[in-house]
Parts: sequence; C-alpha cells; structure tokens
Amino acid sequence: MASDAPHVPVLLRPLLEAVAPVSGTWIDGTFGAGGYARGLVEAGAARVIGIDQDPQAHEMAEAWVKDWPITLVRENFSNMDKVAEAVDGVVLDLGVSSMQLDQAGRGFSFMKDGPLDMRMSQTGRSAADIVNEAEEAEIADILYLYGEERQSRRIARRIVEARKVEPFTTTLQLAELIERSIGRTKPGQAHAATRSFQGLRIAVNDEYGALWRGLMAAERVLKPGGLLAVVTFHSIEDRMVKRFFQAHGDRKTHKNRYAREEEATPETPFEILTRKAVGPDAQELKDNPRSRSAKLRVARRTTMLAQDIAAAELSMPDMTGGQ
Ligand SMILES: C[S@@+](CC[C@H](N)C(=O)[O-])C[C@H]1O[C@@H](n2cnc3c(N)ncnc32)[C@H](O)[C@@H]1O
Repeated sequence: MASDAPHVPVLLRPLLEAVAPVSGTWIDGTFGAGGYARGLVEAGAARVIGIDQDPQAHEMAEAWVKDWPITLVRENFSNMDKVAEAVDGVVLDLGVSSMQLDQAGRGFSFMKDGPLDMRMSQTGRSAADIVNEAEEAEIADILYLYGEERQSRRIARRIVEARKVEPFTTTLQLAELIERSIGRTKPGQAHAATRSFQGLRIAVNDEYGALWRGLMAAERVLKPGGLLAVVTFHSIEDRMVKRFFQAHGDRKTHKNRYAREEEATPETPFEILTRKAVGPDAQELKDNPRSRSAKLRVARRTTMLAQDIAAAELSMPDMTGGQ
C-alpha cells in the first residue's frame, strides 16, 4: 500500500488528533500527493473522496490509489457538495503542493525558469495572460490585495512598460523585472518576487473565491456531528477561515433550562473545536521548514440548517473596490 509521496503532509498528526476518532466517509478537498487521504484511512475512515483540480495529482496517484478505499474526483473543492452528501468529515490543506512548486514547467516558482503559467487546473487564464493583458490597475490590485506587496503600483507600471517591448512568457523574465523594479532583497530575506508571485497565483486560481465557496459547500455537505478541518498557509487565508468560524460557529448553543443537554438548540451551523489555531510543533518545524506558517482550525457541524455567508463577512480581499 505504500507509495513514495513527494509532498510531505503538513500538520497531519495534530489534524488526526483533533478529529479522532475517525470513521465513515470523508472528503479530502485538496488531495495533492494523497498524504491526508491515506492518513484518514489509516486513522479509521471507511472511504475518502479525494478531490483535486490538478490533472497531474490524479496521474501521480494512479499507480497506488486503486489499493486504497479512496475515490478520486477531478473538481474544484468549492463544488464538493455536488459529488457527495452527508459526509462525516472534510479536510482542506490550502495552496500549492511541493510537486507543483518544484516543477519548473508549472510556472509557480520564481527560482526556476519555466512558462509563466501557475494554473493548478491547467485551464483558464494563466499568469502570463494576466501580466500581458490586464489593465495596469488590475495588476496593481492583484499584487497588493492578494500578495500584500506594498510596492504593487511601481511593479505594475514597470510590467506594463516592459510588455510593450516584449510580452512576458517565462517566470524568470517576470522575477527579474520585479527585482529590477524594487531592488534585490538582503541575504536571508524573501526574494523580491515572493509577494507578487503569491498574488498572481491566488488570482490565477481564484483561491480566495474557491475558499469562500468551499467553506459554504463544506457546511452543506457535512452531516450533523461531522468535522471540518482547514489548514492555511498565510494570513489572509487564515483570517478568512477564522472569520467564517466566528460567524458560523460562535460556540453558543441555546439551552432551554428544562431541556436535556442533547436537546439544546444550536444557534450556529458549527461549534468551534480549536479555540486558537494550531501550528507545527518544534519537531515538525525542524523536519519540514515549509510548515512554518501553517495553521489548523477545526469545527464540528451542528444540526442547524446550512446558510450562505457574504464574502465581505470573511474580510475577503475585494478586487471590485466594493462595487
Ligand atoms: C497543499 S496541497 C495538498 C497536499 C495534501 N494534503 C497531501 O498530503 O499530499 C494542495 C492541493 O490542493 C489542490 N487544490 C488547491 N485548491 C484547490 C481547489 N479549489 N479545488 C481543488 N483542488 C485544489 C492543489 O492542486 C494541490 O494539489
């Protein structure tokens, strides 16, 4: 049953501890190399529905997944309630996998030369399409709102000037232009292109939109008592999950003085299980420095009917300027 997973799962042990005991059907909405899905099966899940929008994740799993009670689905996790119903748990491990980052041909890395692509699903608008075609203001907003790049306007202006001479086709072409625009960072600091590349990747894959819709879909697909565990990698994502849990899971249950405990009426669709986000312990930090900024939050579904939530309630960065 073993396979050589090229992606080291992050926060898997604390996640499995937080959702124990595991049983029934689970959705792994970010299958990747399948580390979480296998962990869930080994912890007791009868079946895992592994969702990933990246066709390469499916190709890589072909050799081993047939020996496991795992069903693979190529979908966006924001549609998870269209592929299953009344599940016992949902896990989301957001962002890109090491396989995606490490392959120059996918265009996610500013350290390796490759086509300026960044599309997890390999469909839709690529990063090159955005930098070559979008208005300067849109590029600046993407870098600022999604990448938290303070020098977004300067970089956007330089991109628009440069593309008149030669369109962008490769990752290093863009990384070098960004470095020339805002200066090289000091040794030990993140590369000058880190934030811009993050912003572009989030825009290309509509990562915040998918997270917002995915959290609502998880609420619809979980049965009462089902668990939702989300691992985030940067502050905007974590803030969105935190706000969602605050708005839809405020720990309060309305208790009738005369009713038995189990008859209490929940006032929110979730009950929060992690008062504070859980991060990696010292050992995981040592073994896998990539876990540094990972945060886990877990909540349990109540019997209350699922309800939609506005993106603004999650403080999702608003590219429309509120229009
Ligand atoms: C950080 S990796 C997950 C790694 C996985 N937990 C493991 O142990 O191997 C994230 C994966 O989720 C996928 N992904 C990200 N956003 C998605 C979305 N909205 N819908 C479906 N898959 C998504 C990516 O293609 C990537 O393979």
